[in-house]
Amino acid sequence: MNQPLIWLEYQHLDHWPAEESALSDSERERAARLLYAEDRARFVAGRHWVRQRLGERLGCRPAAVPLTTTGARGKPVIDHAHPSISTRVPSFNLTHTGPHALLALSLDGVALGVDLEYARAFARAAPIAARHFNAAEAAAVDALTAGPAREAVFFRTWTRKEAYLKLTGLGLPGGLANVETGTEAAARVLSVPPEHGLATAWVTTLALPSDLPSGLVAALAAPTAVTVRWRQPQP
Ligand SMILES: CC(C)(COP(=O)(O)OP(=O)(O)OC[C@H]1O[C@@H](n2cnc3c(N)ncnc32)[C@H](O)[C@@H]1OP(=O)(O)O)[C@@H](O)C(=O)NCCC(=O)NCCS
Repeated sequence: MNQPLIWLEYQHLDHWPAEESALSDSERERAARLLYAEDRARFVAGRHWVRQRLGERLGCRPAAVPLTTTGARGKPVIDHAHPSISTRVPSFNLTHTGPHALLALSLDGVALGVDLEYARAFARAAPIAARHFNAAEAAAVDALTAGPAREAVFFRTWTRKEAYLKLTGLGLPGGLANVETGTEAAARVLSVPPEHGLATAWVTTLALPSDLPSGLVAALAAPTAVTVRWRQPQP
């Protein structure tokens, strides 16, 4: 059986034009509420970039991409009901950490969740895992000596959990401990609670292209196993 194809693209947000005119009024208002110029520029660049990529698929200008949100926690999606939508509606999910951003895109409208983090020095890895991971995952983190090896497993596990919670649209209030996404890098079919609204779910740690900055770790979640293809950075 053919697996759905998911396109992934990395973008350094400081290298993408922060064009406010490409955003909606509510996006511009949100940008204006951000305290620091750097955060404002990255938010605007991120939304502009996503709109550019979606616009290429829909055949419209970035500003004309009809974005809306779904669910109680505001997952951004394309508005299927918008009068301008007559073609297949792509689905997407965005993640960013500092200037680094990752976009996951499905031309077939497969629901997605993606998360990107820096695996950095993090003294509280074990206590946070004990509090927010499930028992088996917390024990795996605790069994490692404090330092880079433990942090690598911690951030790998965190990104898998957050990608899953972004797939559901629940975000962090969905509870990181509620689903065992695993501490390993391999793909896994998940056992999901009925209240999460998905019949099936799947997560994998992403093998990032070698030209991306080192230390980044990312995971992708979808309802079923998918095939991943990286899109080369483009203007
Ligand atoms: C979704 C959530 C996990 C993202 O956390 P984050 O640290 O910003 O992580 P990421 O960088 O991976 O993702 C950000 C992107 O996820 C997308 N996103 C936002 N809400 C989402 C949701 N409920 N589900 C899936 N994706 C979502 C957006 O595209 C966002 O990009 P933006 O900054 O351009 O809006 C987090 O915001 C959350 O739990 N939200 C729900 C709870 C809530 O409403 N909190 C209020 C804000 S604290």
